[in-house]
Amino acid sequence: MYVDPAKNQDAGNLRWIMPYCRPDWPRVAGALVMFCMNNAMALTIPLLAGVIVDRVIVGGHTAELPGLCGLMILLTLIRVTGRYGYTMWMERFGQNSIYRLVSDEYEKLHQLDFTYFNHTRTGDIMSRMTSDTDAIRHALSWVSYNVLDCVVMFIGALAMMFTIDWRLALALACVTPFLFVLTRGLSKHAHPLFYAIRNSLASLNSMVEENIEGNRVVKAFVREPYETEKFDERNDDYMQRNMDLAYNSRRYMPWLDGLGFSLQLITLGFGGFLVIRGMMTLGNLVSFNSFLWMIDGPVRQSGWLINDWQRFNASCIKIRKLLTTESHIVDAAGAAGAAAAAAEPGAGSATSVATSSAVTSSAVTSSATTFTTSSVMPAAHIRGDIRFDHVDFAFPDDPGTPILKDIDVHVPAGTKLGILGETGAGKSTLVNLVARFYDPTSGRVLIDGVDARDWPLATLRSQVCIVAQDTFLFSDTIEGNIGFGLGSGGAAAGDSDAEPGADGGDGNAGRRIDEQYIQRMAQIAGADSFIQSMPDGYDTVVGERGVGLSGGQKQRLSLARALADNPSVLIMDDTTSAVDMETEAEIQQHLRELDGTRTIITIAHRISSVKDSDMILVLEHGRIVERGTHDQLVAAHGRYWSIYRKQLGLQAGASQGYDEDVAGRDVVGRDATGNVAGSTAAGSDE
Ligand SMILES: Nc1ncnc2c1ncn2[C@@H]1O[C@H](COP(=O)(O)OP(=O)(O)OP(=O)(O)O)[C@@H](O)[C@H]1O
Ligand SMILES: [Mg+2]
Repeated sequence: MYVDPAKNQDAGNLRWIMPYCRPDWPRVAGALVMFCMNNAMALTIPLLAGVIVDRVIVGGHTAELPGLCGLMILLTLIRVTGRYGYTMWMERFGQNSIYRLVSDEYEKLHQLDFTYFNHTRTGDIMSRMTSDTDAIRHALSWVSYNVLDCVVMFIGALAMMFTIDWRLALALACVTPFLFVLTRGLSKHAHPLFYAIRNSLASLNSMVEENIEGNRVVKAFVREPYETEKFDERNDDYMQRNMDLAYNSRRYMPWLDGLGFSLQLITLGFGGFLVIRGMMTLGNLVSFNSFLWMIDGPVRQSGWLINDWQRFNASCIKIRKLLTTESHIVDAAGAAGAAAAAAEPGAGSATSVATSSAVTSSAVTSSATTFTTSSVMPAAHIRGDIRFDHVDFAFPDDPGTPILKDIDVHVPAGTKLGILGETGAGKSTLVNLVARFYDPTSGRVLIDGVDARDWPLATLRSQVCIVAQDTFLFSDTIEGNIGFGLGSGGAAAGDSDAEPGADGGDGNAGRRIDEQYIQRMAQIAGADSFIQSMPDGYDTVVGERGVGLSGGQKQRLSLARALADNPSVLIMDDTTSAVDMETEAEIQQHLRELDGTRTIITIAHRISSVKDSDMILVLEHGRIVERGTHDQLVAAHGRYWSIYRKQLGLQAGASQGYDEDVAGRDVVGRDATGNVAGSTAAGSDE
């Protein structure tokens, strides 16, 4: 972050924005010099005009005319150069400051937790990132120097006028109190109106964003007229808010214009009177008249500048709110230290887990040199031992509704956990606690014996990978999507046979990937064949949110992306729900290669997806109601058994010899027990 959001929290908006501008102070100083040059010339030129009138036109010294005209051209050139210089530099200053501000906003968005996004409309965030930010840019690069220009010109011109003729200048200065009263009134009323406009725009943007996102649903339900009506309401509100502002401006602007007109009236009326009476020369009146626009301009412009200033204030409030939003999920003080202690050599490294697997031992050996430790790697490696220690959870915005109740489970590193349960039982919520997307309300989630809150978030999330239930793909190539977690990994390292889980505990950062690695991950995820059949293969660009792919294809790509990330804990949340049974069986077959190399948590509604797990949990209303291996749960004749029978198409209690008949085969017709790794049995960990 360029500026610590905790700083200057109570400061006014102008002081708050200053740190973003600070690096550009030299540029502003240069602009000020140019500005002074411009204004000095602007104040001198009318004096010269007066001299021309008095000496050449009235006095008849015609020989002086070319020299005076030449001087005037020179002064004008200096003025134009000054103006060009300071407008360019101020624009640059505004753009640079906004660049820093937007970077901070963006970084902040990445720091914010799920709770914030659950409650904030995308359109709202987008307006803060775009139009609010632009209002601040406009204020910094245009309003700032125009205000300065107006003030300097007004005071400067008035001062010059006083030196020429104090009586006429005093008469003109009489408008100042009226100007003050009018601008204050305009400013006071404009502020809430601008704030309302910003809110209304955010709401309008959200509506548009939602409709673009949900256009298929709208079309499918033929709700276009209803949505259009809803949009019209918000559009109308936005228009109304703008009209309110326009009415407010119109209430004051004519008066400000009138003040400008009164200045001309005073100059010509009173000035003319002084000239006729011989109390003032005609040249002085011409100079006065030239100075007049310098105070007339600021008077008329003040209304618009005040509007811009209030727009700046309203936008600052919105952006400051975003920047000062607290994330509930942050690194605990000393997180790195506690976690590092847990990951000491000898505490059971991933290497030992990986090499213990006969299935992948060759892959481990072959790829040991593929992944290298990098200076930016996470602080410690996670083995993948997970323990839910009497965990209760309720969402922060609804603390009265417990979602998870007394979850107490141990998942040893390298084992497979299956989670089954009706929809809304809390399965996704449970796994979200492992990656610390939320923290438990009470109890602890221990990762390798260390509270998840004590792990650095970057370490935790780089090694706990959730294949989320709702798949999201970036508008990028398939290869780019699969390699997303690898960053700009660079060119091939020469070992394309690398298997996930083969990094020997070095973590992910610094890893170098190649196309074959990506392809291998796609093969494991059952995605390679359909990718190959696409015209551009791995270079196919998938549209926003992966449009152009089927649901099952998107799921397989997101699984490949997770595998490529090579996590120590792989969580698949209903990952194969949209995949046909045959492909699912194929994926499972491939995934067996990973047995023992990482902890795998599979959430599913299909028994076939979890039955090979070392332990299966059945969740109901946020509680674990059953746990054990497939065989144990079937034998228990409980909830799992009843789901199993339903999925087999059998009626509960239909056959006396059920256990013997069906327990030995699974729903996809494979051997039910042959591939189950060493069972941890029901409650064996408790
Ligand atoms: N952001 C949220 N705020 C408040 N309640 C939520 C939020 N997200 C989910 N819930 C509630 O938490 C409960 C558990 O949701 P969860 O997504 O964990 O269910 P699930 O078991 O994964 O269901 P499914 O099988 O349909 O995916 C549900 O009752 C849901 O309404
Ligand atoms: Mg879910």
